[in-house]
Amino acid sequence: MQSDIFNLLVGRKIGRGIHRSVHRLRFSPELVVKVAHSESGRRANLKEYLIWDIAECSRHARWLAPVRACSTDGSFLVMDYAHPASRKDFPRRVPAFLSDLQYDNFGILDGRLVCVDYANAELELARGEEEARWWDAAESMVE
Ligand SMILES: Nc1ncnc2c1ncn2[C@@H]1O[C@H](COP(=O)(O)OP(=O)(O)O)[C@@H](O)[C@H]1O
Ligand SMILES: [Mg+2]
Repeated sequence: MQSDIFNLLVGRKIGRGIHRSVHRLRFSPELVVKVAHSESGRRANLKEYLIWDIAECSRHARWLAPVRACSTDGSFLVMDYAHPASRKDFPRRVPAFLSDLQYDNFGILDGRLVCVDYANAELELARGEEEARWWDAAESMVE
């Protein structure tokens, strides 16, 4: 029953991280759902929800893909879909609170680069900008 309704509403898987799988929503392709794999995934969803709630009305909101909803235990989080970014979209400087600058954690929304995985971002939003150290997970596995 539960998996029936999941399959009805949840579409293609577009990403997988350490903590969460990410799917498009069938009837709202402008949204994704992040499905937690474990307790750490549920914590990541709840933390992202909290950071969005804090940042939403700040000047930092433009750097984050908006969170639209989160289930109470963190199992599911709904976020705006961001399109794949190309290397030319990544700026030299970013706000310091975006602590994990992995290329895969960013995408393009309304023509702007936004972070889609900010569960590890610093809650101290007042920090300014700093030189960005972008990194590629696939390349660092080869090394
Ligand atoms: N809002 C989104 N729009 C498009 N792709 C996304 C979005 N959120 C996540 N993804 C893709 O799914 C991958 C895994 O999601 P992520 O939030 O990074 O999970 P984890 O916390 O497990 O690393 C990301 O690296 C990215 O490629
Ligand atoms: Mg990630």
